Amino acid sequence: MDCFDHRHNQKTPEREITTRRATPNDAEGIALVAQSLQIGDDRPPEAGDTGFLLWAQDPATYAARIEASDHFVVAEEGSQIVGFIMAYPLRTLLSLSESMGYEDKVLTLFDQRYDPSLIYPDQIGVLPSFKRRGIGGLMDAKLQSFTPGVGYATVIGHAPIRNLASIGYFTSRGFEFVEEVQQDDWTLGLYERNITQKSDGA
Ligand SMILES: CC(C)(COP(=O)(O)OP(=O)(O)OC[C@H]1O[C@@H](n2cnc3c(N)ncnc32)[C@H](O)[C@@H]1OP(=O)(O)O)[C@@H](O)C(=O)NCCC(=O)NCCS
Repeated sequence: MDCFDHRHNQKTPEREITTRRATPNDAEGIALVAQSLQIGDDRPPEAGDTGFLLWAQDPATYAARIEASDHFVVAEEGSQIVGFIMAYPLRTLLSLSESMGYEDKVLTLFDQRYDPSLIYPDQIGVLPSFKRRGIGGLMDAKLQSFTPGVGYATVIGHAPIRNLASIGYFTSRGFEFVEEVQQDDWTLGLYERNITQKSDGA
């Protein structure tokens, strides 16, 4: 019998978490992570403590987004995808916008406020049993290594459910709350990191 102490992670080679750019082959694993975090129309208020996704996508959609963006990061343990950040430069987001109608108001705001080089983290998720192990932080560090010094902005659900996990996560990574935006029946918080003025002066 093996005396493996899980709390102290003594025998860990097979449990090492690695992060890298996503490839289309990762889409199935990403969709499974997203599905595990999705909440339905009932929108349970307790979901704020754990975090939630409203728009988990199918593998084909994730594969298409991976093809469109070189800012899509995955975390894996062995060959299992355990987390992802789907992010894009604003210029890519604007060109994808026709298939993302639910974000119209946010897109307009972003287009007005930010330089096209801004990075927009659209979705982040970590499998429930892997949360709070620093995996979200590792993925963000990888994302930042692609384009050091660039600005970031994202929106997080404030009401009817306040996504406390997401707010806690993004603020721990240096994002700051700016203002609230109304999008359909959701109040969203706009959060920024390392933002400079839009360079074209528009
Ligand atoms: C948000 C999420 C990706 C964080 O991933 P994670 O791997 O658990 O994050 P980390 O372990 O790197 O946590 C980094 C810091 O974020 C903050 N944080 C993470 N989870 C939190 C929570 N549930 N409540 C409050 N703060 C939290 C903490 O400051 C944490 O540092 P600490 O553990 O030393 O206190 C994860 O909770 C998740 O998948 N949530 C469901 C999906 C979601 O809400 N996505 C955001 C909307 S797109």
